[in-house]
Amino acid sequence: PTPVEFTGTHQAGIVTPAQDRLHFVAFDVVTDSREALVAMLASWTAAARRLTAGEIVGPDDSGEAQGLPPSGLTLTVGFGPTLFMTGDGVDRFELAARRPKSLVELPVFPGDALDPSISGGDLCVQACANDPQVAVHAVRSLVRLGVGVVRVRWTQLGFGRTSSTSTAQATPRNLLGFKDGTANLKAENGSALEQFVWVGEDDVAWLAGGSYLVTRRIRMLIEDWDQVPAPHQEAVIGRTKTAGAPLGQRKEFDPTDFGAVRGDGPAIPHNSHVFLSHPTNSGTAMLRRGYSFVDGTDDSGRLDAGLFFIAYQRNPDTGFVQVQRNLAADALNRFIQHRSSAVFACPPGARDADDWWGRTLF
Ligand code: HEM
Repeated sequence: PTPVEFTGTHQAGIVTPAQDRLHFVAFDVVTDSREALVAMLASWTAAARRLTAGEIVGPDDSGEAQGLPPSGLTLTVGFGPTLFMTGDGVDRFELAARRPKSLVELPVFPGDALDPSISGGDLCVQACANDPQVAVHAVRSLVRLGVGVVRVRWTQLGFGRTSSTSTAQATPRNLLGFKDGTANLKAENGSALEQFVWVGEDDVAWLAGGSYLVTRRIRMLIEDWDQVPAPHQEAVIGRTKTAGAPLGQRKEFDPTDFGAVRGDGPAIPHNSHVFLSHPTNSGTAMLRRGYSFVDGTDDSGRLDAGLFFIAYQRNPDTGFVQVQRNLAADALNRFIQHRSSAVFACPPGARDADDWWGRTLF
């Protein structure tokens, strides 16, 4: 398979087909030097161009990806709110006036159990590939190039994409055992992408063609879920487990019919996940691109597993925040817990061979 094109109006790794593996990394910037930061972003871009083409970074490449194909590697960069102004109000890089109004830490939602040490970050890189070693090599290479400028704040490994971003992809399943990504926004939905995913020229000029990224590490209470019989699980989600059909329908891509009745109630319960997150009831849409994770077990022997939720949207307020508010009554909440949160502005793609990540911002 050919490598995913690095150059373009939009960064790769958003609407390009979701790969199987994720290595996500959030950084803190440890220098106050704008020049050093800009130089690093330029060197990261050059490295990303080579890595995504399946080439070694340079003579001092760490080596573990040699002989491996590009494996669909994409590298997507984002800038967090604290890059523009630190938590205590310092404008380290003369960026405060350039901060998009919508780029602020997400509000607190009911039930949040966030750990600040695995939340936030000044910068992020989302590395996705079909081979975990290729994604890890890419992150490791960028970390090496960033020594003295950035420090890793937190990382998340993911396996098993939980979303399709193209109609050509089969819908995968998440760790609840349900198909995930059926009603996602997809690469083929051109006008919906303009409406819901890409920042427009008239919005924030330097970010035009970019998108906002929201990440949430959502732990699943797997052992509790496994005690629940499948028909009840289906009522929680609002779709059937085997086919992934909306309740009341037969096939995965049958339309969601909120008027359908079953017994003496609606086929799709009004507190189900699909009912509350569907555009009809949330009033909006976003592009989901999450991954499953299993990070071992906790002290009580329960799987520390779940969904590393990733969503791209034109504006976090009218994207993730709006849907998440609507999910306050979600029957799924009994089985999940949000442990980390982050938001980043992902700039447009590199337009040619000389362009670099962040040029339009700096
Ligand atoms: C749909 C699972 C968290 C937004 C779905 C579906 C499943 C699912 C199985 C149905 C298939 C599909 O259309 O993709 C989960 C699980 C979650 C989770 C297991 C947590 C562990 C979230 C969160 C949001 C969200 C935090 C956003 C705030 C959506 C949306 C849809 C959806 C927008 C499509 C609804 C539609 O248009 O029919 N999710 N989800 N989900 N989910 Fe989630």
